Amino acid sequence: MKKSIPDFERMKQAGEKISMLTAYDYPSAKLVEAAEVDTILVGDSLGMVVLGYDSTVPVTMEEMLHHTKAVRRGAPQTFVITDMPFLSYASLDLAVANAGRLIKEGGADAVKLEGGSSLAPIVQALTRIGIPVVGHIGLTPQTAGQLGGFKVQGRDVESAKQLTLDARAIEQAGAFLLVLEAIPRQLAGHITSGLTIPTIGIGAGLDCDGQVLVYHDILGLFERFKPKFVKQYAQLGREAVEAIQSYNREVKDGSFPTEEHTFGLADGVIQKLYGDK
Ligand code: KIV
Repeated sequence: MKKSIPDFERMKQAGEKISMLTAYDYPSAKLVEAAEVDTILVGDSLGMVVLGYDSTVPVTMEEMLHHTKAVRRGAPQTFVITDMPFLSYASLDLAVANAGRLIKEGGADAVKLEGGSSLAPIVQALTRIGIPVVGHIGLTPQTAGQLGGFKVQGRDVESAKQLTLDARAIEQAGAFLLVLEAIPRQLAGHITSGLTIPTIGIGAGLDCDGQVLVYHDILGLFERFKPKFVKQYAQLGREAVEAIQSYNREVKDGSFPTEEHTFGLADGVIQKLYGDK
């Protein structure tokens, strides 16, 4: 059964872990739903793992909408969260208009935004008009340049304090979930126990209320780089290349198609049409 926001709250209170995985299209969403993962994130990581960009920065609203619609069709019974792409929430008006499109046109159940305390007014505006919001602090890929690259955050007292304040501000603004990316596990544990909303970690250790990873990473479909926090549960990329090599070989040596993959005609049809020639 499709999870709801009160289910996520109840899961935190009961100490029941929340699973989240990204999906970007109809087939991936169908598989994630079949595996009964609690919630799907249509992450803007799709820019890198599906569209081949170097970062998430170029991803557009139209791309997020297109992929969210496909995920919704593939996973009608799963709670779907969609990332708002870079600059799509640069002002209150833009945030309301774009989040509204992801919910109304895309079929998302909630939107996710990257940023700390300075984003609280936007989170508050969206939740007040009925758009459920997920926060995302720590390593925020859309603004990784300002953070000095893809680095673990909150390692010194000052930045750990700031992340703790950011988490509280996002919760108070009305977010119902908070993603913690690439922060030390002890800090993630403190932030988690200080909040009433669940935290979902990615590279933030076991003490978060749940975990999220990228679909292509856990299945071994993205080989450009592999962060320390990724666990590969399969090597489907390698298997896919081997399967495609077999097809290529069989086409070239004439062993595909066989009778099994070929249509035939009843006796006499060709003679009637072409005579005996
Ligand atoms: O874009 C994404 O996939 C994400 C997760 C990795 C948290 O934001």
